[in-house]
Amino acid sequence: MREDAPVSSQPLLPPGPQAPCDLERLDDKLQHIHALWRQYGDCFRVPAVSRDCDTIVVNDPDWVRRVLVSNHRNYTKGVGIERVRVLLGNGLMASEGERWRRQRRLLQAGFHKPRIEAFFAIYYHQALQVADRCNDAARRGDPVNITALASETTLLAVLQSLFSEDLERVQQAQGVNPFKMVSEESNRDLQFAVRFRALGKLVQQVIDWRRAEQRFPPDLLSHCLQARDKRSGEPMSDRQLVDEVLTLVVAGHETTAASLSWLWYLLALHPQVFDKVAAEARALAPGAAPDWRTLESMQWISWAIREALRLYPPGWLYTRRAIAADRFGDYQVPAGSDVFICSWLLHRHPAFWEQPEAFRPERFSPQQAQRRHAYCYVPFSAGPRHCIGESFAMAEMMIHLAVLAARLRPLAVEPRDVALEAEVNLRPSQPLYVTFSADG
Ligand code: HEM
Repeated sequence: MREDAPVSSQPLLPPGPQAPCDLERLDDKLQHIHALWRQYGDCFRVPAVSRDCDTIVVNDPDWVRRVLVSNHRNYTKGVGIERVRVLLGNGLMASEGERWRRQRRLLQAGFHKPRIEAFFAIYYHQALQVADRCNDAARRGDPVNITALASETTLLAVLQSLFSEDLERVQQAQGVNPFKMVSEESNRDLQFAVRFRALGKLVQQVIDWRRAEQRFPPDLLSHCLQARDKRSGEPMSDRQLVDEVLTLVVAGHETTAASLSWLWYLLALHPQVFDKVAAEARALAPGAAPDWRTLESMQWISWAIREALRLYPPGWLYTRRAIAADRFGDYQVPAGSDVFICSWLLHRHPAFWEQPEAFRPERFSPQQAQRRHAYCYVPFSAGPRHCIGESFAMAEMMIHLAVLAARLRPLAVEPRDVALEAEVNLRPSQPLYVTFSADG
């Protein structure tokens, strides 16, 4: 139903099961939400156990737009973010209200396209190193643990974009890369959170070096250090700086790593699509880091990534909490309700996607994309709280794919029937192994 459609004067509570359940705590939350959607449709309500309110799940792009964009001021981030706050402190992802607005203003310019372009050399060299390792494995006939490799390379890309040469300096001082735990450990429990937060001391050390040496290389940390609030002229406090840097390490790595894993999984299973991607990659044959113009000329490379993000959106569940009562057409949303948007469901909604389960990158051609509702595809969310790193992530993934597809061909992936792990991010439940041949 459209947001501006006439509504009945007496709004109803959305339908749903009687039995209370904390959806976000279930082990099989994605499967459970999917089953409830099949039973109750695009707006349903589940009473919560641990809270005195209901959870309303919406899977209609008009209501998605209402929650994320047109009435976004009525929503805070809710239960999903309460769980990650212990890891991310008051960084951009987990903050709310005036603090969030101020931080977003301060960080935004650091993610504008011309700034991001300065990192393309990093993405390019990372991709070349991954290609070399896959080539070596291909020559030996060994499969590559693409899940581990994607995690390693995306972590290095975000760390180098944050710290430039200081990453090497920290590594030398510590004897190892102390941030490695982020890609090596997949558990995100309390123990991990405590050890991860301890990395804040190293971030503070880099901040102190830079101030003492008055050295500000063109990276994300320098941007954060030099940003001043337009209204007050104030910089970020050190505590805030550390929270923002740790947030960018986690947010900038896990999602991109999961996306690249899924992308190679899909390409290994769809050789005809890979042929198109590889032809484009070879024609462009970037012999150096490309620029935005070159990236914008890539069609199949960009469509394949967008289609992988449709089928496997790493941020698969957006949680919000209604401050005041709201209304989704004939349905009422009482104040205090938790509202969940499941991008995995929305991206497979048969009313908006033909053969939703099929991997068809051409859906993202301009002709096909313009016929679709703008809010049935939201892998980076939408509205003021959409992903600040979207351009960073897209450029990094496109350069990765362009470099690898020009040199390697995925022949097989194991396991083919991999289960989903739908926790904070949507990841394969076990590592994916791709066998490459080195013929491009
Ligand atoms: C494929 C890669 C990525 C995906 C799919 C993704 C997805 C998302 C989504 C869905 C949100 C909003 C969550 C919500 O509304 O509840 C978000 C927020 C955010 N993302 Fe990303 N992201 C990606 C890469 C990155 C990168 C590379 C960075 C930084 C280097 C980043 C930094 C952030 C931050 C800081 C926020 C919070 C923004 C705010 O609340 O103002 N993300 N991302």
